[in-house]
Amino acid sequence: MLIGVPKEIKPLEKRVGLTPGGAEMLIRNGHKVVVETNAGVGSGFPDDRYTAIGATIVATAADVYGVADMIVKVKEPIAPEYPLIRKGQTLFTYFHFAASRELTEAMVKSEAVCIAYETVQKPDGSLPLLVPMSEVAGRMAPQEGAKYLEHPMGGRGVLLGGIPGVRPANVMVLGGGVVGTNSAKIAAGFGAQVTIFDNNLYRLRYLDDVMPRNCVTQMSTASNIREAIVEADLVIGAVLIVGAKAPHLVTRDMLSTMKPGAVIVDVSVDQGGCVETCKPTTHDNPTYVVDGVVHYGVANMPGAVPYTSTLGLTGATLPYAVELANKGWQNAVKENRELALGVNVVAGKIVYKAVAEAFDMQYDSLDSVL
Ligand SMILES: NC(=O)c1ccc[n+]([C@@H]2O[C@H](COP(=O)([O-])OP(=O)(O)OC[C@H]3O[C@@H](n4cnc5c(N)ncnc54)[C@H](O)[C@@H]3O)[C@@H](O)[C@H]2O)c1
Repeated sequence: MLIGVPKEIKPLEKRVGLTPGGAEMLIRNGHKVVVETNAGVGSGFPDDRYTAIGATIVATAADVYGVADMIVKVKEPIAPEYPLIRKGQTLFTYFHFAASRELTEAMVKSEAVCIAYETVQKPDGSLPLLVPMSEVAGRMAPQEGAKYLEHPMGGRGVLLGGIPGVRPANVMVLGGGVVGTNSAKIAAGFGAQVTIFDNNLYRLRYLDDVMPRNCVTQMSTASNIREAIVEADLVIGAVLIVGAKAPHLVTRDMLSTMKPGAVIVDVSVDQGGCVETCKPTTHDNPTYVVDGVVHYGVANMPGAVPYTSTLGLTGATLPYAVELANKGWQNAVKENRELALGVNVVAGKIVYKAVAEAFDMQYDSLDSVL
């Protein structure tokens, strides 16, 4: 099979769908790889890293889409890419269809095979191609929090780990899933005093077992949060209720009880945020202040660390990409239920129910296109 890797063209997107290591793996499996020039540069992989392992560099996205049987990328296609996509071509990337009718209609029209990273699902319900980005954002959150706690950045001038004779910072982590656990681990590693709040007691029992002594757990209730937030230097929002808007665990009236110059990093801002006053921001202008509290609401945190994010993402996607290449998409999804759940649009039909429902469009079963 011929696998194509276009350069990402969404603003500020520096990740790439396939590393030179990933390309090498596909080539060793008997496939050919075509990469658009400079596709990997933003992630630290210049063209010669790809040519060294036998991939071909081509000049334009049209040269990639024009020949590839399967496109492996990172972000959903945007308007300039729509006309390049060919009937029957497999696209393996993030789509987030339910967020865009325009994209959904364009992919239906293209008659391509759209396999979405975000809906590939393990039997236990976990989403293996979303986890690496949650890990990145989770580990970044205390790092960003520490930065904005510095006085010149608008914070209250507190060092996360304290020093001998001076207490460390007090960090609240709301939600103890992938983001929250990674945040708590890093904040505790800095030496901060960390409390994880979750409403799942089983999860709290597990975290209590595995986290270090400077990280404790507490049930997520409004009164517990209201009481604790008074002492917090840094609050990290990491809640997720699948398929729903995040609940506002930190309400507007709680802000006035917080220390001036305290920092909130709401990672869950992409699902509406678990802090009432949080709104999405960008890496160009990541923070704003409400009631003396610094708010950080960057909705695509992994974009700031494209090297780590690309390696993390492709480490998770590569086994699926190899399977799709080796077997062809139809046999691959017949044999692998995880991949089957990733198929959203095929040959002009929407085969993922939630996407069809989101836009009141026709749903067809996956079996009808296999
Ligand atoms: N901003 C970014 O760049 C970025 C990057 C990756 C992920 N995210 C977002 O971060 C959020 C968390 O993702 P995740 O992968 O950790 O999800 P997850 O499902 O692993 O964890 C969510 C946790 O929230 C807990 N929870 C649910 N309701 C709660 C409540 N009322 N109080 C306390 N805890 C509650 C759940 O029990 C679970 O442990 C998601 O919204 C995700 O989209 C954002």
